[in-house]
Amino acid sequence: AATRTAIIAGNWKMNYGPRQAADFVKQILPALAHVIRTHPHIVSILCPPDISLQVVRDVLDAQPTRGIELGAQNLYFEEKGAYTGEISAEMVKELCSAVILGHSERRTYFAETDELVNKKLLAALKHHLLPIVCVGETLQQYESGQTSQIIEQQVRHSLANLQPEQAGQIVIAYEPLWAIGSGKAATVDDAVKVIRQIRQIYSSQYGSSAAQAIRILYGGSVTADNIAAFTAQEDIDGALVGGASLKAEFVDLVRNSS
Ligand code: G3P
Repeated sequence: AATRTAIIAGNWKMNYGPRQAADFVKQILPALAHVIRTHPHIVSILCPPDISLQVVRDVLDAQPTRGIELGAQNLYFEEKGAYTGEISAEMVKELCSAVILGHSERRTYFAETDELVNKKLLAALKHHLLPIVCVGETLQQYESGQTSQIIEQQVRHSLANLQPEQAGQIVIAYEPLWAIGSGKAATVDDAVKVIRQIRQIYSSQYGSSAAQAIRILYGGSVTADNIAAFTAQEDIDGALVGGASLKAEFVDLVRNSS
């Protein structure tokens, strides 16, 4: 993590419509801005539902802070047209600097494949969004010792086809499915092991300087109490946070990550 800027991203999932989103961001922003100003090596990315992006953008713009950014939770890879219910990378880019792609909930409930995630990744990069691409194994895969094989497959396919100049400009989030929303985070050792493996695979795809440049986050039941143990690791460049990003605790979590 030493030379890479840490990222603490909050994935709000399907929580907080415009009214609640505005209230929540106004509530945490003064303290969050203070933490980010005093910890210039941390970037915090808030990822509300699409319908709340504009109100959060407005609140952030009223008190601009370098290092507090806005991200979407998904996009569609086509540029525009007859894709009811979808939004394009260009639309996301009007409000956001980042986007989460291939979250396990999208893969599980909306049948997103590595191939689809890859198309979305290329669209995001084309429009200069910072993509946070999620990978992770299920409990059954974990228990049957298939973690490294599953991760390798997801990394190779979801992150395929990048141009050399794009390869250093992505973020990967390792989120074991059994740790998401379960209150049972992975052990630091397990997280480090998989994250090192991800960097190795990525290095074999795009070379070691790209692999050293990208940020790899841990996600899954991260809290203000356990964040420091993860971010103390050289290999872990921050966290993708679900439940704890919906509460004022998020500010403590960001502070404790340094
Ligand atoms: O994307 C973040 C997420 O899946 C982790 O959720 O609630 O376990 O922090 P949570």
